[in-house]
Amino acid sequence: MEAEKRIPTHVSIIMDGNGRWARERGRERVFGHFEGVESVRACTEASVEAGVRYLSLFAFSEENWGRPGEEVDALMKLMFKSMVNEFETFMKNRVRFVVLGNRSRLSETLNAAIDDMMARTASNDQLTLILFLSYSGKWDILQAARAIALECAGDPERIDALDFSDIDSHLVTAGIPDPDLIIRTSGEQRLSNYLLWQGAYSEFIFSPLLWPDFRKEAYFDALDEFAKRDRRYGKVK
Ligand code: FPP
Repeated sequence: MEAEKRIPTHVSIIMDGNGRWARERGRERVFGHFEGVESVRACTEASVEAGVRYLSLFAFSEENWGRPGEEVDALMKLMFKSMVNEFETFMKNRVRFVVLGNRSRLSETLNAAIDDMMARTASNDQLTLILFLSYSGKWDILQAARAIALECAGDPERIDALDFSDIDSHLVTAGIPDPDLIIRTSGEQRLSNYLLWQGAYSEFIFSPLLWPDFRKEAYFDALDEFAKRDRRYGKVK
């Protein structure tokens, strides 16, 4: 009998290439983002089918605030609309929806919709879908450092006793397992200030496909590739 395939618990995706996908078709960049939402849906469904428990998506980085205002507005509206539209599907597939990042930079309307979606899907237990919004890895480590510094209040004994798990528990991802697999689309091979701490032992797959072209088949191919990887965590087997 064939050995059971190793399924990653947490898959994380850096969705890249929407702008190029649109440009190749002579369209505005936002057209690529619209089409990218279809890939989000496909990968969410594929995760449920495969038994992946956490799917996280780098939807908007802290650096993305530097894009033209029109594109930022269009992206925020798209997040809002997609989130609301997907509610029924989330409930049907028992998907818990979570947004992580520097939420103080998001609009009140968007934050209210996020809170509502998070509360209403909180007890769903098949898949946790995490959207990293206004997120960067360095920001996450900085906010954890600030919180830890406050808690330690200069107490040398507490500072001395600090452990890796103290950093884990102060990152916005506290309680979420580190990603086993990080996929980046569009052929770029870099981490771009994403899960710097949490990705310490992640496997990486760089796909040449632009995000709007990354659908179920590509996702399942990535899971197959992951199953073949030999994860040693710096040790010898
Ligand atoms: C990267 O392509 C894509 C983004 C920065 C935005 C991704 C967001 C979505 C697909 C919408 C997600 C919505 C939901 C509800 C999850 P790029 O613009 O950097 O493309 P380029 O590198 O070709 O310019």
